[in-house]
Amino acid sequence: AELPPAGRKVVLLTRRLPDAVEARAARDHRMVPNLEDRALSGLEIAARAAETGADAVLCCAGDRLDAAAIAALPDRVRVLATFSVGTDHIDLEAARARGLIVTNTPDVLTDATADIALLLLLGAARRASEGERMIRAGAWTGWSPTQLMGTHVGGKRLGIVGMGRIGQAVASRARAFGMAIHYSNRRRLAPELEQGATYHPDPEAMLPVCDVLSLHFPATAETRHWLNAERIDRLPLAAILINTARGSVVDDAAVIDALTRGRLAAAGLDVFENEPDLHPGYRDLPNAFLLPHLGSATVETRNAMGFKALDNIDAVMAGRPAPDRVV
Ligand code: DGY
Repeated sequence: AELPPAGRKVVLLTRRLPDAVEARAARDHRMVPNLEDRALSGLEIAARAAETGADAVLCCAGDRLDAAAIAALPDRVRVLATFSVGTDHIDLEAARARGLIVTNTPDVLTDATADIALLLLLGAARRASEGERMIRAGAWTGWSPTQLMGTHVGGKRLGIVGMGRIGQAVASRARAFGMAIHYSNRRRLAPELEQGATYHPDPEAMLPVCDVLSLHFPATAETRHWLNAERIDRLPLAAILINTARGSVVDDAAVIDALTRGRLAAAGLDVFENEPDLHPGYRDLPNAFLLPHLGSATVETRNAMGFKALDNIDAVMAGRPAPDRVV
């Protein structure tokens, strides 16, 4: 039988991961999987880490690792590698204070997430979800000249708030559909990255030109409910909202009210505050195109995210700098 690698480390997985990722973790470490795949609370994760003598924890976007959970993690745990680019579920200050290394998985999910943003943009503009539900309900009576008329996206202005990797990937896709790109970002991009997009230093000032508004900035205490009723009122009438970032950056009550009144024509949403218990007001809105946080959900991307998380764990275990260290 193959001998385990010398100095095998214990790697705790908080959820089931794709087969190829678990196979690599089991090959290189003593992997502790979460066989029942139940979402664990932060304190349960800490307790499991203590029980199993974990050296590393590979966690996911849904796991809430707040200050209490981080404090409860045994000292032996040196790295918390999250299977996500977002880190809003982790109290980074608590991790920093405890000397816990936190890593994430940037780059590998950029294209998959930008693809979902375009799916939502086109689906919301062309009323795809309404049409699909009409067919499934047996309510389609045949083609008609005025049925489910949507909005042409070509020639419309797409405003991107947060022009990082994913924002730029959304811009390049939307350009192919003939959209004019506007963006707001802390820093203006270099011309070769900007590719003719119009820069707005102040996102507030950009809102009146956003026929479609797509959000691509992280969830923090400062960005909570950034898109509120006042900002919605600055958008052109019947604008479309796309959110593939985090649910907490929009004020659900304000978005639902605007969708109900037609102030917003439609919304395409992949993320929600308090997932999976999304605001019930969304469910009955015909003009809300809703997906269950699928941004990175392709086999290729999820494998790549898992390998990246393991690359980071391997580096820390070997005393090398973690390539995607956040804290
Ligand atoms: C992320 O990576 O932050 C996604 O939301 C989960 O894949």
